[in-house]
Amino acid sequence: MENKHKVQCYAAPLEGITGYIYRNAHHKFFHGVDKYFTPFVTPKPKKGLNTREKNDILPEHNQDIVVVPQILTNKSEDFIKVAQMMGELGYKEVNLNLGCPSGTVVSKKKGSGFLSDLDGMKAFFDEVFSGVNLAVSVKTRLGMEKPEEIKDLISLYNQFPVSEVIIHARVREDYYKNPVNYEAFAEGFSQSIHPVCYNGDIFCAQDIQEVTKRFPKLSAVMVGRGMIANPQLTESFDCAGDKSLEFSKEDIDYARWKAFLDELCYGYEYIMSGGRNVLFKLKEVWSYMIPLFPECEKYGKKIKKAKTVAEYRTIVNALFREAGVQ
Ligand SMILES: Cc1cc2nc3c(=O)[nH]c(=O)nc-3n(C[C@H](O)[C@H](O)[C@H](O)COP(=O)(O)O)c2cc1C
Repeated sequence: MENKHKVQCYAAPLEGITGYIYRNAHHKFFHGVDKYFTPFVTPKPKKGLNTREKNDILPEHNQDIVVVPQILTNKSEDFIKVAQMMGELGYKEVNLNLGCPSGTVVSKKKGSGFLSDLDGMKAFFDEVFSGVNLAVSVKTRLGMEKPEEIKDLISLYNQFPVSEVIIHARVREDYYKNPVNYEAFAEGFSQSIHPVCYNGDIFCAQDIQEVTKRFPKLSAVMVGRGMIANPQLTESFDCAGDKSLEFSKEDIDYARWKAFLDELCYGYEYIMSGGRNVLFKLKEVWSYMIPLFPECEKYGKKIKKAKTVAEYRTIVNALFREAGVQ
């Protein structure tokens, strides 16, 4: 019997994009994702989660998919409270956000801002791991300022029963732009006693192949913007390591992409009041997807300018006709 290690595929959390409407639509039309991570929820001391956050994690909104709720906080009591609530809802794992680079988050020492406070993190983990009874994974960057920080961070994670360490191979200062740092990632990976998932700039099947070849013992690879741009990318994981796999535009199953985008549109229309909000959501998704379409510049501009959902539909239908889908 063949006993080949298959790297898992995780769908990254992207605030404003990968809410439950997106996750369900993706799962309905594309396979390959082993876990979908929710965009972060931020527990407020007395109020807990807001309505949007609660809706996103409601079990009835997340049927038949493996979902890991992500929590952004540096307060152990808030984390424990929300993690327990997630456990009661049936979730098996929660994820701690240690990567968000936004100024307002970092200034409160949350997200990647927490990474510069090792003592604070240690106290946080001491309490969290004595207070929760479900798996806790972390999504970390290499550090706040310098990639070498990953060594002390991994030493810290090694002291606790973290279920998995997802490393976005950048520091906070890089935001999402500067090149990923494979060397520093390799350092952290080799030092970790926990399963490690790679994250950062996986945009095509070849990228999956390269990273899994370079780090064959990875537990998983997480895809974010690459999956939004090409929702079919997750299916390349089934064949990662297979040399014959070279995804090109000809492999795009535009009919499925259309069905997926229609589903997204219906989903947002169902839960949002006002076409403007629906269009805002769809336009954000299209800003990632448009480069993989024929006549992308012309249609990209038209979609951006659409004022109503009806107008949007007319433009998108014309674009799919260009791509050969009636
Ligand atoms: C618009 C946007 C929203 C994001 N929201 C979150 C979030 O809620 N939680 C989180 O851990 N990371 C968030 N990220 C980071 C991604 O999950 C991921 O780590 C990053 O984009 C690098 O992976 P990629 O190159 O595959 O996109 C966000 C990134 C973007 C671009």
